[in-house]
Amino acid sequence: MKRETKMLQWGILSTGKIAHAFARALSRSQTGRLVAVGSRARSSADAFADQWNVPRRHGRYEDLLADDAVQAVYVATPHPMHAEWSVRAAAAGKHVLCEKPLAMNRAEADRIAAAARENGVFLMEAFMYRCHPQTAELARLIRAGTIGEVRMIRAAFGFGGGDAIDPASRLFDPALGGGGIMDVGCYPVSMSRLIAGAALGRPFANPVAVAGAGRVGRTGVDEWAAAVLRFEGDIIAQVATSLRCTLENTVEVYGSAGRLAVPDPWLCDREKPTTGRIVVSAGGKTAAHEVAAAQTSFAFEADVVARAVAAGRVEAASPAMTWEDSLGNMAALDAWRAAAGVVYPADRPAAA
Ligand SMILES: NC(=O)c1ccc[n+]([C@@H]2O[C@H](COP(=O)([O-])OP(=O)(O)OC[C@H]3O[C@@H](n4cnc5c(N)ncnc54)[C@H](OP(=O)(O)O)[C@@H]3O)[C@@H](O)[C@H]2O)c1
Repeated sequence: MKRETKMLQWGILSTGKIAHAFARALSRSQTGRLVAVGSRARSSADAFADQWNVPRRHGRYEDLLADDAVQAVYVATPHPMHAEWSVRAAAAGKHVLCEKPLAMNRAEADRIAAAARENGVFLMEAFMYRCHPQTAELARLIRAGTIGEVRMIRAAFGFGGGDAIDPASRLFDPALGGGGIMDVGCYPVSMSRLIAGAALGRPFANPVAVAGAGRVGRTGVDEWAAAVLRFEGDIIAQVATSLRCTLENTVEVYGSAGRLAVPDPWLCDREKPTTGRIVVSAGGKTAAHEVAAAQTSFAFEADVVARAVAAGRVEAASPAMTWEDSLGNMAALDAWRAAAGVVYPADRPAAA
């Protein structure tokens, strides 16, 4: 592979689980270099920096944003802090890759996009599966009419089980944006919108109606939930999520001339690359399309950002998340949460 002459200089904001996954991807990146980390605690920044060989470490997020060595910031806090730190990073002139969901609701996401626009910086929501070549191939197969006219979509992402609920975990704490819809339900919604868009000849589509249901548990977050999204052209998607039972975490698309299945749509590969696989059943035959991948989804994601920044662009190209795609996803999540009865502090009028 050709080596890039200019590497994007990254700073990671926070030191949790996914921050480690991204640091691992950057440690092998051809397009980016991890130059700094910021944590709320200097000791965490030091431990993270020692593990990943990061030259600059900061005991406050503000100091990471003030670091002139940093060109792009990866915001990897729990969701309720995404808006504040993405806006502040943009205001500090840093390019922003922010973990999913981009914000707690559409109104917050609008504020992040406005900050990126005003400051002329790159912004992308970190749906890493959108950066893996499997997802581009899936959209291509749909656009090419491989299964005819798309009629129904089924997509799920849910995990967990048993009776254990850890109220201290961010997943069950409303103050940390807990709940399945926001944690992993955002994936099937974003995938359905991508597939419906490809079927309609666009980068994505927004549902014209969302009907949903969810179980809200004693900590006040959705523990399992499902929704039906209706798109233009009567394309109907069924999406599901859970924190308390493991779902069939696949995607199927049903068309007038066949069907298509993606056994591993979310590509959460942190250690080794995952070869993509899309199984197409059409015209009486079933064939698997293999999609080679030389690196992990997180490494593809870092490349998408670096190449867009190098080209002077402020947003990625589909199927990676564009700003409008993220804003539409947040609106669909707002509708699903409303139907399920999940309300966060950020949704209350005083927070707007
Ligand atoms: N793309 C993916 O595959 C993927 C996978 C998992 C998670 N995510 C997303 O990434 C984000 C972080 O998830 P995670 O699993 O990495 O979470 P995590 O392990 O709990 O880490 C979150 C980090 O955020 C910082 N933080 C700031 N304010 C905090 C607060 N009030 N409470 C707790 N931590 C706080 C902490 O870092 P410091 O102590 O260093 O400040 C903490 O280590 C979420 O938005 C999630 O949706 C994405």
